[in-house]
Amino acid sequence: MARRPIIAGNWKMNNTPAEGAALIAALKPLVKEAKCDVVVCVPAIDIPAAKKAVHGSRIRLGAQNVHFSEKGAYTGEISASMLKECGVQYVIVGHSERRQYFGETDETVNKRTLAALNAGLIPIVCIGESLEEREGGLTQKVLDKQIAADFAGVEDFSKLVIAYEPIWAIGTGRTATAEQANETIGYIRKRVKKLFPGKNAGRLRIQYGGSMNAKNAKELMAMPEIDGGLIGGASLKAEDFSVIVNFDK
Ligand code: PGA
Repeated sequence: MARRPIIAGNWKMNNTPAEGAALIAALKPLVKEAKCDVVVCVPAIDIPAAKKAVHGSRIRLGAQNVHFSEKGAYTGEISASMLKECGVQYVIVGHSERRQYFGETDETVNKRTLAALNAGLIPIVCIGESLEEREGGLTQKVLDKQIAADFAGVEDFSKLVIAYEPIWAIGTGRTATAEQANETIGYIRKRVKKLFPGKNAGRLRIQYGGSMNAKNAKELMAMPEIDGGLIGGASLKAEDFSVIVNFDK
């Protein structure tokens, strides 16, 4: 079965609720005919306004993080069921910025992934190597470790999305070439199939992320292994994001 492409915007810490609603309003008419799944991952505080704004469109709502406990004494955190009740369907887990600045580890990424799946959310789990690791020839080794640890206990890979985001390409304007991204994503798919036999890995969708934009999206999306994109900077402008969403036009 063909894998349905998925283009997701990661707004990061940008847009107030009002700004976010205005961006979605501008985006709506531009993505009306999209053939892929379209998601905006917004700051948690923007979720109610964004929920109203996406009404009547094909844009789906995503969050940028989720805690692994159902409830309890975790000041500042948000649970999967809270997100779900607010109309969220997707959640980014383990973004490299969370790993780098907020102490996220493969262990917490795994717990958050399982919590999201249990609640019926679709996690978009980010993995990828640093520049040092790539230049040191360690890319596959790093990915092997992340795949084994982050997805331990996952029963059905059709219910999650992986975002392959080489850290050196995030926000730097330095995109992986389409061939590099395709090759690495193909490797990730093979590895998941090998490590998790019988868990529906054939239907796993894998996005590329890292300086993907209106200019390079078509070329990246033409690659057979690349099922979509996780878009940071270029998701903050309706026009740019819509060009990526309409990559097939
Ligand atoms: P970028 O960010 O598109 O701005 O490089 C991608 C991401 O961090 O998800």
